[in-house]
Amino acid sequence: MKFTETIKSPETEGKEKHVPVIEIDRAHGKSKTDIVRIIVGKDVPHPNTVEHHIVWAELFGVKQNGQVISLGRTDFTPTFTSPIINIRLNIPLEEFKAFGALSYCNVHGLWENLLEV
Ligand SMILES: [Fe+2]
Repeated sequence: MKFTETIKSPETEGKEKHVPVIEIDRAHGKSKTDIVRIIVGKDVPHPNTVEHHIVWAELFGVKQNGQVISLGRTDFTPTFTSPIINIRLNIPLEEFKAFGALSYCNVHGLWENLLEV
């Protein structure tokens, strides 16, 4: 068995609450920068209690040459924060061919998603 086999995908039961949805906000605001957003529980909010919550989420960028870059990670404090991350890119969005995300629920484990751009 490989560790990656334990990671749950957008096809897994419970996906609505756990899959890190990746959105791109192109040319955002006055600075016209690109923002990549992760939202966990976009369609169905995930529980947000000490006993059951999203612990962290992380965003990766896959460059055109295949190199994987860790773009940012956030730890969430249950009840005080929501599992949403906005990451501002300092390089053109076109340098990436995909974005990947991981999220971790303290009850239901590790979840992944990939958005090709
Ligand atoms: Fe969960």
